[in-house]
Amino acid sequence: MQESFRYDEAFSRNIGWVTETEQQWLKTKRIAIAGLGGVGGSHLLTLTRLGIGRFNISDLDTFELANFNRQAGASLSHIGRAKVEVLKELALDINPELDVRTFPDGIKPENMDAFLSGIDLYIDGLDFFAIEARRAVFSACADRSIPAVTAAPLGLGAALLNFLPGEMTFEEYFQLEGATEDEQLLRFLLGLSPAMLQMGYLVDDSRVDLNAHKGPSTPMACELCAGMAASQALKILLNRGKVPAVPHGIHFDAYRNKYASTWRPGGNRNPLQKLALKIARKQLSKKKAMTMAETETTPLDTSIARILDLARWAPSGDNTQPWRFEIKDDANFLIHAHDTRDNCVYDLDGRASQTAVGALLETIAIAASGEGMEADFKRLPNVPETLPMIEVTLSRSPEVKADPLLPYIRARVTQRRGFSSKPLTDEQKQALEAAVAPGNRVVWIEGQGRKWQMAKLLFQNAQIRLTIPEAYQVHKNIIEWDAQFSVDRIPDQAVGLDPVALKLMRWAMGSWERVRMLNRYFAGTLMPRIQLDLVPALQCGAHFIIVSDKPLQSIDDYFRGGRALQRFWLTATRLGLQFQPEMTPLIFSRYDALSINFTQDETAIRSAGELSSHLKTLAGLQKIDNIIFIGRIGSGKIPTARSLRRTVTNLLNNNTLN
Ligand SMILES: Cc1cc2nc3c(=O)[nH]c(=O)nc-3n(C[C@H](O)[C@H](O)[C@H](O)COP(=O)(O)O)c2cc1C
Repeated sequence: MQESFRYDEAFSRNIGWVTETEQQWLKTKRIAIAGLGGVGGSHLLTLTRLGIGRFNISDLDTFELANFNRQAGASLSHIGRAKVEVLKELALDINPELDVRTFPDGIKPENMDAFLSGIDLYIDGLDFFAIEARRAVFSACADRSIPAVTAAPLGLGAALLNFLPGEMTFEEYFQLEGATEDEQLLRFLLGLSPAMLQMGYLVDDSRVDLNAHKGPSTPMACELCAGMAASQALKILLNRGKVPAVPHGIHFDAYRNKYASTWRPGGNRNPLQKLALKIARKQLSKKKAMTMAETETTPLDTSIARILDLARWAPSGDNTQPWRFEIKDDANFLIHAHDTRDNCVYDLDGRASQTAVGALLETIAIAASGEGMEADFKRLPNVPETLPMIEVTLSRSPEVKADPLLPYIRARVTQRRGFSSKPLTDEQKQALEAAVAPGNRVVWIEGQGRKWQMAKLLFQNAQIRLTIPEAYQVHKNIIEWDAQFSVDRIPDQAVGLDPVALKLMRWAMGSWERVRMLNRYFAGTLMPRIQLDLVPALQCGAHFIIVSDKPLQSIDDYFRGGRALQRFWLTATRLGLQFQPEMTPLIFSRYDALSINFTQDETAIRSAGELSSHLKTLAGLQKIDNIIFIGRIGSGKIPTARSLRRTVTNLLNNNTLN
């Protein structure tokens, strides 16, 4: 259909912001773009739509899946194909009259002349870490009096610098000569964005690793770069007047809705820049190896592997993940579960672990529905109750439809900080009640008065939790310090304390003696009880108690309870609600009901008795045996710190998927 293309009509909607004559000028211009990754590809397509008629483009890479979030041209049909070829095709599909010269081997000293010959403007699209190549191209542009623009995607914004003939050069501005590669990268980053508008909203800094040449990048930032750079291109190419040249720079951040125009005479030699660099170096040297999700070593290319990969995200008390898997064949696998009753005061008779295993079973059933399969569970007889084994049989059936809760398995999370105190709507409550039926119901604790009662109960409960040595041992083992994420525990940042309280707690947890001393002389439990129990108890839409119609007696009753809990929690996630279990009052009440002494501390034992009657009154129950789960719920922020999970390979008994 090439015949039907007419340049004037294709780009006629530019006219108004450019004149017809200017549009014809743009058609004659040649722009060179090195690098067609996050920003380069968008530069090319944006400038093509602006009506630029000629390009020199270079990239030595091919498209891969990890490019999909941001790179123009990254799509399934282009995986494995050379970026220069794909982008040339995409650009020609917009303007078949384009004159595009491609440089598929990247830019080297040997082809620099050819790459820059006849060009009116260079636009930088090189990878952030390709510092050597970038220095070479900018220096060659300066030698040839070619204006050069670089726009960096930073967070959800873009920082832009223009290097114009006769003005300060790239080398003069960034001062990279003689510096190590890491130092060059740092100087490049701080020179690009002296305003650093992107700082402050990075939520997972384990993903920034200058040493490993890795960093996050968003599609919004790449598109903003293309928009900002093309605007500068238009002004430079059409002589529309002054553009800010280094040491001036511009930075727009669409997340913070902020614009900064910066001026750093002397570039990185400027005292302000020197100070910023000093601080940044200090921060970088402090940055320790952080916990990230472990990457799976085996491809998850079978239904069972994919099911387990989702199922492992089921919740468990203190993130213990009390399960391992043994794959038998394509349709059968075994769950080897265990409980932690011997070393965890919260796992009375293994009931907390059994509830978690129930949640796992429900997650497996939901995950299987995504594979068009039904999951059947059989608990094996004649094995100790502390080490339950469950046989899982999967059967494919055309009747099985993906469970509507399937998309929420990975998004479900525990939030231990405050939520909004806005009450739940009737629709939300009905959906949550339906999620646990039949055989179970929900008791809601809402309204100021009842929430206050619950807050008092939790405050009293926390006194037990924080003063008995049995709980101290558990807390010591399950918190991963200085961590935003934890694969097999709870990271300290997800506990719900502010940084000062967290520091104090860390110090105190160094020894039981310290805890005792703090408790005895400094009311040491007060601050954590207020921050972790009292305030969050008031800051929520409601507390809930999931109650079974029949008392929970057997391990299977607890499995069933766990299944209902997981449907409830996933439904909360579907409704956009935050969620925190509040299980310890129930656990201490059960110790009381069963007359089991859980500690040497007589006061704590008496306190558990009071707690139990308080809980029964609040729940409107004669006995607590029917309670499956207690927690709080409400709308609020998604936590940035959270527990992660072991990999499937790690959870397999023999560590192999086949
Ligand atoms: C049976 C059970 C009891 C739990 N009890 C509590 C609790 O009392 N307090 C709490 O903050 N979290 C509790 N949790 C939440 C777990 O700590 C959490 O699910 C686990 O660390 C994994 O984190 P995630 O839910 O964010 O994926 C409980 C979870 C389960 C399954």
